[in-house]
Amino acid sequence: MSPSAVYQEIVSGPATFQMGVPSSDSFPAALFGRIGAHAARTQARAPVVYPDPRGELELRRRIAGHLAVARGIQCDAASIFVTAGFSGALGLTLSMLRATGAGAWMEDPGFFLTRNALNLARFQIAPIPVDADGLDVDVGIARASDAVLALVTPGQQAPTGATLSLERRMQLLDWARRAGSWIVEDDYLGELQLQKRAAPALASLDTNGRVIHIGSFSKTISPALRLGFIVAPDRLIDQFNETVMSLAPAPAPAVQLTLAEFIREGHYMRHLRRMKRLYAARGKALQDALASRGYPSQIGGLAVLLPLPDSIDDEALVREARAQGLAPGALSSWFSGREARQRGLLLGVATAPEQDIPDACDRLDRLIRRHRDRTGQRPIVH
Ligand SMILES: Cc1ncc(COP(=O)(O)O)c(C=O)c1O
Repeated sequence: MSPSAVYQEIVSGPATFQMGVPSSDSFPAALFGRIGAHAARTQARAPVVYPDPRGELELRRRIAGHLAVARGIQCDAASIFVTAGFSGALGLTLSMLRATGAGAWMEDPGFFLTRNALNLARFQIAPIPVDADGLDVDVGIARASDAVLALVTPGQQAPTGATLSLERRMQLLDWARRAGSWIVEDDYLGELQLQKRAAPALASLDTNGRVIHIGSFSKTISPALRLGFIVAPDRLIDQFNETVMSLAPAPAPAVQLTLAEFIREGHYMRHLRRMKRLYAARGKALQDALASRGYPSQIGGLAVLLPLPDSIDDEALVREARAQGLAPGALSSWFSGREARQRGLLLGVATAPEQDIPDACDRLDRLIRRHRDRTGQRPIVH
C-alpha cells in the first residue's frame, strides 16, 4: 500500500470492516470525558513548567503496574517512555539507534507503516517470511544475520494473527544476544487476543536486555488519544532520555493523566474484558456468515482473513468495496514484493456490528463473484 493510499484510508473515517480502529459504539465516552475534564482543570491550575519529556510519572507507574499483570513484564517507571502511539515510539527508537544504512528484519507480510518508517530512516530492509509460528527466524539469520534490528509482532502477527512460538522466541532472543542486535516488539494489541489467552510479551523472556517493547492504546482504547509507550532495556535508558528531550517529548500531560486515572480506577481492565467479548462475538458471527456463503476464513488479530485465489486482484476488489461503503483491507498490500503475495480480504471485526454482517457479507459475496466471473475462476473453496 502506498503512503498516500494509507493516508486516504486513515482520514476517510470508519466504514464497515475497516481495520485498525476500535469499535466507536462501545467506548465509555461519558466516563472518559468526565475524567478528562477533571485532569484538564487540574492541569490548567498547575504551575507553568515544562512537563517531563519521558511522560507523566503517574502514567508511567500505571503502565508499569499494568504490564506486570497483563504482559508479564517486570519494569518500573524509569524504563517507560510515553510516546505518540506506536508510530511515535518507532520514530523515537529509530532516531535513538542512529543506524542509518544498517540492516533491519521486517515481517513479510508486515505492517506497511513500519516498512515505510524503516525506508524513511534509510535502513536496509530484509523481508522475512512468516508462517503459523510467526516470523521465520532461520530465514532471518540466513538472510541478514548482521542486521541491527528485527521488527516483530510476536503476540499476534500483523496481519496473519500468528503467535510467535516459544521455540522461535528463544531463537530470536539468542540471535539478538549473539549479534548484539535489537528486537523491537510491536505489541499493538497487547492482551486483546480474541481466541485464547494472550501469550506473555516477548520482553518478559528477555534476560539480556535486547528487546525494546512498544505498546499502544490505539486499539485498546482509541487511536485519537495518540498514546503509546516504550519499555526500554536498562542499557538504553540514558540514550532514550537524551533522545526524547530533543526529538520526541511525551504528548500533552492532561491526556496522559486522564489515561492514568482510567487505569487506576480499574476502567481500563474492565473495558478490555468487554471489548474482547464483543469482538470475539462479532468475529464468530462474521465467520459463520462467510461460511454459510461458502467462504472459509480465519481470525488474525482483530480481523477475519478471507483467502482469495491468486487470479483475483484483491486491491481492485477493495477499491470497488469502498464505493459501496465497505472497507476491507487487501492482504496482498501487506507484502513487500510482488512474487510472494497472497490474495485475500482482511475484514476488521471491531467495525462490523452483528446486525450489519449479513447484508455486508451479501455485498462482498456479489463483488467476489463478479471478480471470479471476470477471471473465470472459483473462490478458494465453495
Ligand atoms: C501492526 C501495527 N502496529 C501498531 C499499530 C498502532 O499504531 P499507533 O499506535 O501509531 O496508532 C497498528 C495500527 O494499525 C498496527 O496495525
